[in-house]
Amino acid sequence: TPRIFSGIQPSGGLTLGNYLGALKRFVSLQETGIETIYCVVDLHAITVWQEPETLRHQTREAAAAFMAAGVDPARSILFNQSQVSAHAEMAWLFNTVARVGWMYRMTQFKDKAGKNSENASLGLLAYPALMAADILTYHATAVPVGDDQKQHLELTRDIAAKFNHDYGSDFFPITEPLIEGVATRVMSLRDGSKKMSKSDPSDASRINLTDDADAIAQKIRKARTDAEPLPGNMDGLKDRPEARNLVNIYAALSDETPDQVLARFEGQGFGAFKPALAEVAVAALSPITTRMNQFMADPAEIDRILGDGANRADAIATPILDATKSIMGLISSR
Ligand code: TYM
Repeated sequence: TPRIFSGIQPSGGLTLGNYLGALKRFVSLQETGIETIYCVVDLHAITVWQEPETLRHQTREAAAAFMAAGVDPARSILFNQSQVSAHAEMAWLFNTVARVGWMYRMTQFKDKAGKNSENASLGLLAYPALMAADILTYHATAVPVGDDQKQHLELTRDIAAKFNHDYGSDFFPITEPLIEGVATRVMSLRDGSKKMSKSDPSDASRINLTDDADAIAQKIRKARTDAEPLPGNMDGLKDRPEARNLVNIYAALSDETPDQVLARFEGQGFGAFKPALAEVAVAALSPITTRMNQFMADPAEIDRILGDGANRADAIATPILDATKSIMGLISSR
């Protein structure tokens, strides 16, 4: 049976990249009627230092963002990872299946660990085994993510395949990545070669889901572009990454193809395009920001929703964890 799982780290405020690459698609998948399980992955966030009070706030804010974007906790399961202990336990089992070399090859580890990788937390290295645990503890068949998570999902498939091979079983499904649409890699507003990220030191490089209408308009106005007019289709933007990024963002926000957008703006410059983009962005994001603020006014209610989601997640995860242990020869007698 098909089952969707995905997660977002509460390691900073969420961005337009998280919204278009992940949240917006989580909502459309929920609407298909397939079972959807969405997780705020707080155990992943602490692989780099998080101030505890800030982490608590950001975990609730991420949950608020899911719901403000349209994830309905009655139709999807919404919870935070650390409340369902099967994730951490399954991650240990997978630590024994995965190879150290696989982990060192991950580009996200290399980026985040930097030059002094000996000093990175052991958790940062093992991060992808926990991600495989998130997915496989639910026997999820498909995982919607942005382009930057592709390598991690390949590793999840490798872990499932090696487990199945080593234990002569076909217990774990080989999960499909769902990396679809024009916004699987939203780029920085300041540099068309870098992805938009919550951890970029420049706030002007990203649109945050907490930004108000003025901030959104100002960041788009100041976004780096070139001086050429827009062409009639995307072929004409091959060597113009910043322009391509803004057109892709417009298209994703307005549910059009980039070519449909360009057909309307052909021959016009960014003096005309940017205010139009700002209008589309504010129209799409303002209601989300408003609803996020409403949810954040009642943190106890967010915690209640996460707890309820964790109970429902646990009911699916625990039998799969128990079966995994049994396949591996671990005795369970209480
Ligand atoms: P994270 O928290 O970095 O990002 C959450 C989701 O947002 C997508 N994303 C983007 N999409 C398009 N353009 C961007 N600029 C952009 N930035 C981020 C990410 O691809 C992701 O889909 N390891 C994961 C979290 C995770 C997870 C999982 C995901 C943990 N366990 C299990 C799926 C399944 C991460 O760090 O995402």
